[in-house]
Amino acid sequence: IMNEYILGIETSCDETAAAIVKNGTEIVSNVVASQIESHKRFGGVVPEIASRHHVEQITMVLEETFDQAKMTMKDIDAVAVTEGPGLVGALLVGVNAAKGLAYAHQKPPLLGVHHIAGHIYANRLEKEFEFPLLALVVSGGHTELILMKTHGSFEIIGETRDDAAGEAYDKVARTLNLPYPGGPKIDQLAQTGGEATINFPRAWLEEDSFDFSFSGLKSAVINTLHNAKQKGGETMKQEDVAASFQASVVEVLTEKTVKAAKQYRVKQVIVAGGVAANQGLRTTLQSKFQLEKEINLFFPPLSLCTDNAAMIAAAGSIAYQQGHKANWSLTQMQA
Ligand code: KG4
Ligand code: ZN
Repeated sequence: IMNEYILGIETSCDETAAAIVKNGTEIVSNVVASQIESHKRFGGVVPEIASRHHVEQITMVLEETFDQAKMTMKDIDAVAVTEGPGLVGALLVGVNAAKGLAYAHQKPPLLGVHHIAGHIYANRLEKEFEFPLLALVVSGGHTELILMKTHGSFEIIGETRDDAAGEAYDKVARTLNLPYPGGPKIDQLAQTGGEATINFPRAWLEEDSFDFSFSGLKSAVINTLHNAKQKGGETMKQEDVAASFQASVVEVLTEKTVKAAKQYRVKQVIVAGGVAANQGLRTTLQSKFQLEKEINLFFPPLSLCTDNAAMIAAAGSIAYQQGHKANWSLTQMQA
């Protein structure tokens, strides 16, 4: 049996990343150059700065990826690249690097990968999928419940109507004067705070809906902090705000995921995206799914939750197996 090697490239936001994955499931090399330090002082990702850094980093990141794997382009069967969604200028750097490599080496086909498919397929680098499968995708830009009946098929059964979960974390963190990205910091503070200190709202929406809404919660946190400040007196503890906010996000995400998993009779539930790194979410989902014996719950390791290119190569492997191929007019998707 011939082994298959896919080169993955990811530049949709603030990580310049490349990786080589064997047979869709095994990481051969995985390199991520983070730009977080450059964006920190602006309190968020600055698109123009991100694009420039990608241009500066991409060649080195690719060289490192091949060095670590002790491979060259000759060993690569296909080049998979994130085509979107993401920052347009940032995506273009990855797409053009992929095109350049594939073109220069003639042979390997070029594959355009959806960023969210990548986050989902990060799980398959650790554990084989069992269908039907439900994916809870929670990142800085997305909050979705996705049903998969087979490889490469994605049916959105619920999604956020306003802010993404990670976006809510980052905005609340900013209100608490915490540095970007605020998600991990709030997660950490929440460990020692009282989650019942403030009763923040839970947006359940319609009875049968698997959609989410986090903008009301974000406003509630901002208003609560504002009112506390105006009243003077005792200041609210950051830990308590963080824990109470996190309790609301985690409760809604968990309840809807459990309900959808049962309704669609899935065999496996996987969690994907940056917020999948959240300790509170992991613990609560684990304890709820312990009661559902027929459903397997799986989280990717922390390093594969946030943006990387191994996940893009893993998703690209399926596209390759299914015979999808991008042509030379591949460009970044509309953000
Ligand atoms: O998937 P990702 O790296 O990038 C996007 O595709 O958006 O997700 C980044 C998001 C940020 O909003 C970040 O604050 C959040 O994931 N995040 C967390 C945690 N780690 C990262 N949110 C809550 N708890 C965490 N431990
Ligand atoms: Zn992402």
